[in-house]
Amino acid sequence: MTPRAAAARVLREVCSRGRSLSAVLSVQASHVAEGDRALLQELCYGVLRWQPRLDFLLRQLLRKPLKERDGEIRWLLLLGLYQILFMRVPAHAAVAASVAAAAELDRPGLKGLVNGVLRNFLRRRESLLGRCAADETAHFAHPAWFIAMLREAWPEDWQAILAANNARPPLVLRVNRLRASRDICRTELAEAGLAARPLRHVPTGLVLARAVDVTRLPGFAEGLLSVQDGAAQLAAGLLDLAPGQRVLDACAAPGGKTCHILETEPGLAEVVALDSDAMRCEKIEENLQRLGLRAQVVCGDAATPAQWWDGRPFDRILLDAPCTASGIVRRRPDIKCQRRADDVTSLAAQQKRLLQGLWPLLKGGGMLLYATCSVFPRENVAQMQAFFAACSDAQHCPIVAPWGRALAVGRQILPGEAGGEDGMDGFYYALAKKRSARGR
Ligand SMILES: C[S@@+](CC[C@H](N)C(=O)[O-])C[C@H]1O[C@@H](n2cnc3c(N)ncnc32)[C@H](O)[C@@H]1O
Repeated sequence: MTPRAAAARVLREVCSRGRSLSAVLSVQASHVAEGDRALLQELCYGVLRWQPRLDFLLRQLLRKPLKERDGEIRWLLLLGLYQILFMRVPAHAAVAASVAAAAELDRPGLKGLVNGVLRNFLRRRESLLGRCAADETAHFAHPAWFIAMLREAWPEDWQAILAANNARPPLVLRVNRLRASRDICRTELAEAGLAARPLRHVPTGLVLARAVDVTRLPGFAEGLLSVQDGAAQLAAGLLDLAPGQRVLDACAAPGGKTCHILETEPGLAEVVALDSDAMRCEKIEENLQRLGLRAQVVCGDAATPAQWWDGRPFDRILLDAPCTASGIVRRRPDIKCQRRADDVTSLAAQQKRLLQGLWPLLKGGGMLLYATCSVFPRENVAQMQAFFAACSDAQHCPIVAPWGRALAVGRQILPGEAGGEDGMDGFYYALAKKRSARGR
């Protein structure tokens, strides 16, 4: 199959049927030639990133909406527009390849439509792009509800956040400090022709100058390196880990932070890595194995510990909660078509349930770190303000750090350029200490 036809299939599955981008992409990648896989990925991520703008343009070009059964042709047209506007594909080649892909998608009768719509765009390009500037959804390439929520939350920064969400994310690595130093890894990467810069506020972080297939990184298979954004690498340091502690990573899959916790403090008594998704628990095991680390992986619901907890309290709990992922749209552009405004309400309710379920598992004097990769206050500062108001034995520990912004409760990192020089993902962290029985 050609990459354009495969991309149309991926995009329909992801946006119309709500399937996971990474899962569908890996299935379709097996149907295209190995040399075309990078193009398939570029097409899918690019169209998802710019879909609100491309959709706006397409609506101006179609006299009537396409029928449901022609869904893949709609995506093929959006792919054609993307190639013309954002890739270095000559316009005539983009049109010809799109027409050919229509036949491959079993819609040969629509080849004329594909040809006509894309050629019409080339003729009217300047005036149509001018109209985009006047339409907020098209201009910022985000759903209207997302723009409205962001504007309310971050009146000074919303435009910078939207721009950061539309940028390509850097590939960031975490050095396994048990096995190598950051300088040694950086030198080995340079010897392999891969320039990398150290992250300023994250001692284990290296940012690659260009993206590469991670399995080709020197030291990756041997467990010297992992892929993890700098913002996510801050969690282990915030937990104030010490030898002998029992640690619960309550929403652990695929295990990025679990592994970093183990790399940071090898003297921990025990780490329990919990996740409710059995398939994702397998990913935790794979990551532990690659890095030569050990944790107890448990499949269970963090909100109902009676089903899996042995009754021994934890010194540290990390709750990296399921969230809208509104801080990592640059890495997950599928969020733009898959999320809805009311997801914020249901996810905030789920986060509250998880906080309430996990708090009793913490020792007196112990600490819970709450994290999300969201920039929406209802999942972050408002969630934790309500938690502290309702929980008399929880004490807020302000995070003092050179990164992010201090909020009334917790600390927020805004994504990419919106967040400062390290260009990290959008993340929120808040620390809660449990008062011991004697009130300390
Ligand atoms: C943000 S991801 C965690 C990322 C992970 N901490 C890491 O650094 O690699 C959230 C995880 O929460 C899990 N999850 C969702 N609801 C859960 C629940 N009720 N109990 C336990 N895990 C849950 C999801 O399966 C998902 O793997």
